[in-house]
Amino acid sequence: MEEIKVTLNSTPKPKPADESCLGFGKSFTDHMFLMDYTVGKGWHDPRIVPYGPLTLDPSCSVFHYGQEVFEGMKAYKGANGSVRLFRPDENFKRLNNSNERMCIPPIDEEFCVHAVKELVRLEQDWIPSSEGTSLYIRPFIIGCEPVLGVHPANNYLFIIILSPSGSYYANGLEPVKIYVEPKYVRTVRGGTGYAKTGGNYAASLKAQQEAKGFAQVLWLDGVEQRYVEEVGSMNVFFVIGDEIVTPALQGSVLPGITRKSCIEILKDWGYRVSERKITIDEVEEAAKNGSLKEMFGTGTAAVVSPVGDLQYKDQMIHISDGIGPITQRLYDEITGIQLGKLPDRFNWVQTVE
Ligand code: COI
Repeated sequence: MEEIKVTLNSTPKPKPADESCLGFGKSFTDHMFLMDYTVGKGWHDPRIVPYGPLTLDPSCSVFHYGQEVFEGMKAYKGANGSVRLFRPDENFKRLNNSNERMCIPPIDEEFCVHAVKELVRLEQDWIPSSEGTSLYIRPFIIGCEPVLGVHPANNYLFIIILSPSGSYYANGLEPVKIYVEPKYVRTVRGGTGYAKTGGNYAASLKAQQEAKGFAQVLWLDGVEQRYVEEVGSMNVFFVIGDEIVTPALQGSVLPGITRKSCIEILKDWGYRVSERKITIDEVEEAAKNGSLKEMFGTGTAAVVSPVGDLQYKDQMIHISDGIGPITQRLYDEITGIQLGKLPDRFNWVQTVE
């Protein structure tokens, strides 16, 4: 492994004084990690430098054709003061899957986990400690070749930035209202839906902007616009009778790490979990006949968030006024493991020594 060169920031910023005002992804720490890729040389020059603006040629491919991938993960200050990461290996495995789809050269997953640990160790005083807060970690890669031809870039920059953050939703664990998008689609099978790439999120903005008064948009499949896919910042789960259903991963849904973890926990608890196709009509019908007990979203930023209402065309599907028992139990279990309040029985946590 190439050694990570560290240049310390000589003008560190004051840490946020009031953790209740952090919000999500609004402030950044004093340092960032950078690494370059050059054809013929591979990934090289890993370094930690003071956080600040980048100097990039305006012709860089990321600005024109969106050749970009990213990840989202979190560091927590554990009950005993240890610094904890939740399944960071899974994030870099997924980053490589996104890289493959976006024609970006693969990264060394183990080295990237090491880089995150080095950066987080240096910035550990930035990890907030109050309930619901964490240090959000955003690794991303951009195509940097200064040329306007449409082809995979020859140069890339890998960057990791850190942001002390609170809850993704302004009202914390209160059930959110979601708009089921009947017109726009996020992605189609064969597209880039399973990759974590900026374009998927850019494509989602219009619908979110039009869905005034709703926390998020629920995407339906891009062909028939019947099958439930995901929310964009969360995967979704429905508790219907004694079955817990989440849309199957078929290329257009992001393979969430919190999604995967929740499925493993729920199965371990003995629940019947189905990864299958589910239409919005089935959800509507289950709400009508009383078998739809709970709906929740899962994501790194959103953790486990209850959904209270779904607006679909002219129907308001009411699910619950509060947090359901399975949603609450999952939230407690996942955050308990992340913070070290519960045993890490699946071996998911890596500590920063
Ligand atoms: C995450 O949960 O980490 C995400 O990347 C979702 C996001 C776009 C905020």
